[in-house]
Amino acid sequence: MELTKRKLIGISMLTEPTFSMMMIGIMMLALMTMMMGPGSAEAQDAKAGEAVFRQCAACHTLEAGKAKIGPSLHGLFGRKAGTVEGFSYSEAMKGSGIVWDEPSLADYLKAPKKVVPGTKMTFPGLKDETKLDNLIAYLKQATQ
Ligand code: HEC
Repeated sequence: MELTKRKLIGISMLTEPTFSMMMIGIMMLALMTMMMGPGSAEAQDAKAGEAVFRQCAACHTLEAGKAKIGPSLHGLFGRKAGTVEGFSYSEAMKGSGIVWDEPSLADYLKAPKKVVPGTKMTFPGLKDETKLDNLIAYLKQATQ
């Protein structure tokens, strides 16, 4: 009798923390789902950006040291414009004073000839803001 009673108390003491642990677990899960939301959206953007990059791939690779008509975009973020070793840039690009980051890329890719007058990148510009955002999200991952 004594034993069963103690056992019962034992169980109820066991169940209650288990229950609150479960609640914490559920709340953590909800929180994680909320936090994963934007993350997975970003992954989607990058995926869409990969398709946009096809417009650049005729002239650019993402492989270090591999130039085509344009320089390799490997390691682009944080790099000073016109500084890939061995690539023959226009004077305009070398003297632009740009450091590549999200805003400067968005600016340049929207209207290359306007932002760097005299650049030899013959790309008319990407006007679609969504495509531009997606492309930059992709580049951020793919140029590392
Ligand atoms: C027709 C070929 C061509 C296309 C298409 C093209 N580029 Fe370029 N790109 C170039 C050339 C050439 C340069 C060097 C420009 C200069 O020296 O003035 C360049 C330079 C750049 C630079 C500066 C690199 C550095 O090292 O400073 C970036 C960034 C860039 N391109 C990104 C892009 C992106 C992103 C796309 C696609 C939306 C694109 N380019 C499309 C030919 C191209």
